[in-house]
Amino acid sequence: MTAEKGGYDHFMLKEIHEQPRAYRDTMLGRISEDGKSVVLPELKITPEKLRSINRVHIVACGTAMHAGLVGKNVIESLVRIPVETDVASEYRYRSPIITPDTLVIVVSQSGETADTLAALREAQRCGAPVLAITNVVGSSVAREADDVIITLAGPEIAVASTKAYTSQLIAFYLFGLYWAQTNGTQDEATIVNVLAAMQALPEQVEHVLAQAEVIKQVAESISNHSSLFFIGRGVDYAVAMEGSLKLKEISYIHSEAYAAGELKHGTLALIEEGTPVIALITQEALYEKTLSNIKEVKARGADVLGIVNEGYVHEVARSVDRIFAIPRTLPVLTPALSVVPLQLLSYYASLALGHDVDKPRNLAKSVTVE
Ligand code: G6P
Repeated sequence: MTAEKGGYDHFMLKEIHEQPRAYRDTMLGRISEDGKSVVLPELKITPEKLRSINRVHIVACGTAMHAGLVGKNVIESLVRIPVETDVASEYRYRSPIITPDTLVIVVSQSGETADTLAALREAQRCGAPVLAITNVVGSSVAREADDVIITLAGPEIAVASTKAYTSQLIAFYLFGLYWAQTNGTQDEATIVNVLAAMQALPEQVEHVLAQAEVIKQVAESISNHSSLFFIGRGVDYAVAMEGSLKLKEISYIHSEAYAAGELKHGTLALIEEGTPVIALITQEALYEKTLSNIKEVKARGADVLGIVNEGYVHEVARSVDRIFAIPRTLPVLTPALSVVPLQLLSYYASLALGHDVDKPRNLAKSVTVE
C-alpha cells in the first residue's frame, strides 16, 4: 500500500501533488500546436447545435458541484450564455425548465453518482443534449451522456476529491474556450492569452506546493478551533465553498463559506476574538470590496489568513494576520491555483487531529443511492 502511495503518507497528499501532471494530461492534445485554439475531437455536438444553445444547466454533487460553480463563471464570461449550477439531488424535483436548446452539463468524478445520473436522464427525457465531464471512461454517466469530456486525473483513491476537482476546472476552461471560438464570442488574441496562461498553471501549482509548510502551520493553529469561516467574492466564493467542504470532510471542524459581502447581513455576529477566517482575495475587480470585508472581520477580532495574488501581498498584508501568495494568472483561472492551499489546509488539519485522512467517517467515495 505504501508503494501505491508513491512514498506519500496518504493518498490525498499524493493526489494533491499529482495535480500538475493531471492538468498537463487533461490539456494534452486538446490545444492546437500553434497554441491558438482548443481541439476537442471527441465532441459529437455540432457547431450549429452549439450556436443554438441559449441556456446551460450544470448539475453535480459535492466537490463536482463546486467545480460546476466555477464552470458557470467560465461559460458566462467566455460565451455569454446564462448558466445555472444546481445540486443534482435538488435539480429534478424543482421542475427545471429544460428545452432542446438547453445544454445540460453533468460533472462526476466517478460517473456513478445516483443523483447525477438521474439528473442526466431527466435532461435527456426533456430532449436536451447532455455533456458529461467525468474521470472514468466507461462509467454510467460516460455511457449515457451524448457527449463526454474525460478528465485525465487518473484514479482518485482518497475520499476527499482534489485532483479530480482541478481537472474538472481544466475541462471547463477547455470547453468554455472551444465554445467561445465556435460562437465567435472571444477574439483570437483573448483565446491565445487564456491558453498560454493555462499552460503555465502546472508549474505554478508546483510553486504553491513548495510552500506547503506555511499552510501546515496555519492548519495546526486552526485545528484546536471548533468553527471557522471561508470568505470570498465571485470565483473566490466558489473556491471558498470547496475549501470549507474539504475541511469539514476530513478534519470534522465546522466551517462555513460565505460570500464576503453578505457576511454583514447576519453571519458577522458569529465572529469573535480569535475566530479563524480564511479570506480569498484574488480577483482584481473585486479587490477593494473584499479588502473592506476583511477589515470588517478583523475589527471584530478575527484571525485572518489571506490567500492573495502575488501582486497584492503588500497591500493585503496590513489587514491580515497571515498571508499566502499564489502566482499571478488570469482572474478566471485563479481557482486552479487558489484551491491548492485549501486542500493542504484540510489535509494538515486532519493530520494534526489524528483522523483517518483518506477514509473519513460516514463518507463514501461514490454514492450510488439517491
Ligand atoms: C461523494 C464524495 C465526494 C464527491 C461526490 C460526487 O459524496 O465523497 O467527494 O464530490 O460524491 O462524486 P462524483 O463521483 O459524482 O464526482
